[in-house]
Amino acid sequence: MSNEPIALTAALATFDALWSPRIVTRVNDYDVRVAKVGGEHVWHVHDDTDEFFLVLDGELRIALRDGDGERVVTLPQGSVFTVPRGVEHRPSAPGGAAILLFEPTGTPTVGDRHDEVPGHVDVTTGHPLGS
Ligand code: NI
Repeated sequence: MSNEPIALTAALATFDALWSPRIVTRVNDYDVRVAKVGGEHVWHVHDDTDEFFLVLDGELRIALRDGDGERVVTLPQGSVFTVPRGVEHRPSAPGGAAILLFEPTGTPTVGDRHDEVPGHVDVTTGHPLGS
């Protein structure tokens, strides 16, 4: 973990893989992760934690199954949204996007339960920056 400031644009420039978050720093027991995204992720649910999204660039959509049936929230650049624990969700970004995630260290990208994971989705708890 760096003890120097980290420019997010520079951090994002160190990798190309989609849906493959890099951990830029930690806050107590939480990771701050950045990811490049495009197309669809996979339906999944985090049973025990909320998941915070900040859109750094582009537009992110998050499909939700939250008791009112299925709906999609659209997050333009600069928007934040928290998916509550226990809510099935599937992020997507038809035009591509860069996002920042804030969630407990060790949280898997595909949650605790998920649909079949497509090949373009990285199953990880986040990679160190520079890897
Ligand atoms: Ni999630």
